[in-house]
Amino acid sequence: MSAPTALPAWKKLSAHKERIGGSGLPGLVVDEPDRFSKFSVRADGILYDYSRQNIDSEVLADLLALAEQQNLPTWRGRLYGGDPVNVTEKRAALHMALRTQPGDRWEVGGVSVTEDVIAERMRAYAFAEAIRTGALRGSTGARFTDVVELGIGGSHLGPALACDALAAFSDHATRVHFVSNADGADLARTLAHCRPEATLFIAASKTFTTQETLLNARTARAWLESALGEGQFAKHFAAATAAPDRAEAFGIPREHVFRLWEWVGGRFSLWSAVGLPAMVALGRKHFDELLAGARDIDVHFRDAPLAENIPVLMALVGIWNRNFCGATSHAILPYAEALWLLPTYLQQLVMESLGKCVDRDNAHIDYKAAPVVWGMQGTSGQHAFYQLLHQGSDTIGVDFIGYREAIEGDPQHHPVVLANLVAQAEALLVGSQNPDAYRSCAGGRASSVLVFDRLDPRNLGRLIALYEHQVFVQSVIWNLNAFDQWGVELGKQLGKPLLTELTGGERAEHDPATAGLVDYLLK
Ligand code: F6P
Repeated sequence: MSAPTALPAWKKLSAHKERIGGSGLPGLVVDEPDRFSKFSVRADGILYDYSRQNIDSEVLADLLALAEQQNLPTWRGRLYGGDPVNVTEKRAALHMALRTQPGDRWEVGGVSVTEDVIAERMRAYAFAEAIRTGALRGSTGARFTDVVELGIGGSHLGPALACDALAAFSDHATRVHFVSNADGADLARTLAHCRPEATLFIAASKTFTTQETLLNARTARAWLESALGEGQFAKHFAAATAAPDRAEAFGIPREHVFRLWEWVGGRFSLWSAVGLPAMVALGRKHFDELLAGARDIDVHFRDAPLAENIPVLMALVGIWNRNFCGATSHAILPYAEALWLLPTYLQQLVMESLGKCVDRDNAHIDYKAAPVVWGMQGTSGQHAFYQLLHQGSDTIGVDFIGYREAIEGDPQHHPVVLANLVAQAEALLVGSQNPDAYRSCAGGRASSVLVFDRLDPRNLGRLIALYEHQVFVQSVIWNLNAFDQWGVELGKQLGKPLLTELTGGERAEHDPATAGLVDYLLK
């Protein structure tokens, strides 16, 4: 693998950009009556429509050639084969194995992991079911009414998204909450609604060393002990971690500790015991469906030809926009209130995976990688920032996400939602001319649309897995390791001596700007 800029397809794509030009988009569409069928793909009940992208057949052919020239099929084989594709940490990235079904075989370093994954999944399901039915109770014998997940980043965003997006599939037998922030206000406002005797905490942390999660866990433990008595917290705590010894050292009984593996990246861990809150909220049947949806996409990504492969096409469209059309950011616009957390979830998935400027060969790259990812649920976003999408001076990648059916057959609202989605995509494309320039929309602004039949557990699993594989494909094209995150380490390290200083301990050496700020905070 090498720098993509050295590849013949990259050079041809640069020439195509000159040929097509940004404002050519409406013309491209008008001139091709069969454009929708030509530039859209259907698989597993999903439509990926990229007919409003600044792409013609020649661009598409060279984007696909770029994937071939960068050896995408080989890298995909290495990913699925459990090779250590996370080169800096010498680990596999086999989150697909967490979606395994009996009969599948997944190996890491030649050793099967399928049996372990299924056994741990069954333990987690049994635990979740015991909470849901009241078979598992707290130290006073009270039934658990509230489960509070303590975790951050990948140990928070996946289960929080699943619980929120699929709330319509929960029987609400148990209330599930998420606390991630080191700011005590996050935990305090959650505990204001909980009773200690009826609350179970799940500390989700792959490493079980994360400052925020351990701080919240210690505060939660103290809250339990002050109400229930010293040593009475163990029945109220569980953990999902790759460091079970650390969880036990904290005081969590072994039978409440659920395992994940080093080959599961934090931001890919929803499918493991990190998903326990979602198992509690949704029950086994729905969590199984979530896994099955992600597995559908694992099979599709592995088997579909590149030209019909949705995550491959999503990734290539993203690269076209970022590297050739100058897109600085990428907006995620789900037309479903239930997906309000999706942009935040994808911020971590994309920006922690691809927010890098050093490649797999330890060399600085001379091309752009991850765009800034942001967004909001439609139609609320329309009244917040769409002005900039239509008339702003930046080029922005756009994914609209919609559902053909409403969750509960909502006859009044759902058509309004869909009409708005289509109207926004059309407005970006065609624009409008007005004698007053300030009223005009230039149009020619590209967007893609993903449509699912309905928002249900299976389709949520599919949606998330599409983006997971999109990230992997882009990492291959950009020659980046998608599975490490060294950039977040420095801040964590510098935070330690600063905590000492800000709590009255010894002062450390700093640059003048930092020293001034510390002085100000200590006054
Ligand atoms: O922010 C860095 C990070 O390591 C993420 O990758 C991870 O999801 C998060 O911290 C939480 O880590 P852990 O699960 O080990 O507590």
